[in-house]
Formats: sequence, structure tokens, C-alpha cells
Amino acid sequence: MKKLWLFAGLVATFLGTLSITANAAKDEGSYDDAIEARQSLMQVYKYYWFTLNQMSKGKIKYDAEIASIAAESLLASVRLDQTHMWPEGSHSENPANRKNTTLPAFWKASPEDVAKADKRMLDSVSEIQKVAGQGREQLKAAMRKVNSGCKGCHDDYRKKDD
Ligand code: HEC
Repeated sequence: MKKLWLFAGLVATFLGTLSITANAAKDEGSYDDAIEARQSLMQVYKYYWFTLNQMSKGKIKYDAEIASIAAESLLASVRLDQTHMWPEGSHSENPANRKNTTLPAFWKASPEDVAKADKRMLDSVSEIQKVAGQGREQLKAAMRKVNSGCKGCHDDYRKKDD
């Protein structure tokens, strides 16, 4: 009896290995978990960005403490590890994937280009975290750089809404 279980275990392991290999070879996805995670993370960016943006424009009253917390939280979310959220093949033109708007261009970009976009984002959000509590004018100036960080990457790698 013990031997039979051992054998069943081996077959299962073997089949498991096979299906992983087949998936990798076809590169068809689906990559829904990774896509959902990155979209959720972008929604978190947007949540804090919105507060900062409204305050910088005077659409909601400037409050140093709320601005500082939002900027701190945006920085924390930008620092989360995204290494496995962008697997090759998880783009918007692969029908195996859930709906998403990442262009295949993202994976054709050089690692330097992607690193540049990431750095621009991290630098601008680090800057806003330092000054968000110092006054609306400081917030407004820092927000311009944050906005160009979001927009620069979206222009290059994100499909326009259809
Ligand atoms: C390094 C590139 C990059 C940066 C920087 C970036 N984004 Fe994005 N963003 C993307 C890509 C690519 C998508 C498409 C994701 C998908 O659907 O696969 C996206 C999608 C989104 C979405 C839609 C998410 C959904 O639910 O489909 C929102 C909202 C968003 N970004 C907000 C922001 C904000 C706000 C910032 C700046 C604070 C920002 N992003 C910075 C690349 C970037």
C-alpha cells in the first residue's frame, strides 16, 4: 500500500512537471494573477495620487497632515516589489489574458528605458514625500514631476482607453 502511494506521488510530480514545461513553451498565459495584482497596485497609486492632485489644485482644502500621509503612502506603494507582475506574454494583445492595457512595447523596451521610467517615478514620489507637508505651493511644484512620471510611462506603454 505504501509503495502504491509513493508511485502515485511520483506520477503526479511528473505530470506536474510536464504541464509546467508545456506552458512555458507556448508562452500563452494566462497571466491573470499577475495582471490583476499590477492593476490593483495602479489603483492604489491612483487613490493617493488623487488626494494629492486635488489638494495641489485647490479643489479640496490643503491639509499638511493629510497630504503628508498620502505622499508617504504613495511612496510605500511605489516601493512594493513588482518583479513578477509583468511576465512576458501578459500584454493586452494576448487573448488568453484577462482584459488589460499594457502594450507589447513594454517588453520590447530596453531594460535601460524601463529602469529610467521607474527611477523617474521613484525620484518624483520621494521628492513629494519630503515636501507635501510644507505648503500647497511646494506640493503643487512636486506634483508636476509626479504627473509627468505617471504620464510618461502611460504614453509609452499603455493602450489608450477604447
Ligand atoms: C513604469 C510605468 C508606469 C508608471 C510609472 C505608472 N503607470 Fe499606471 N499603468 C502602467 C501600465 C503599463 C498600465 C496598464 C496595466 C494593465 O492593464 O496591464 C497602467 C495602468 C494604470 C491604471 C489602470 C489600472 C486598472 O485598473 O486597469 C491606473 C489607474 C494607473 N495606471 C495610475 C497610475 C498613476 C496614478 C501613476 C503615477 C502615480 C502611474 N499609474 C504610474 C504603467 C505605469
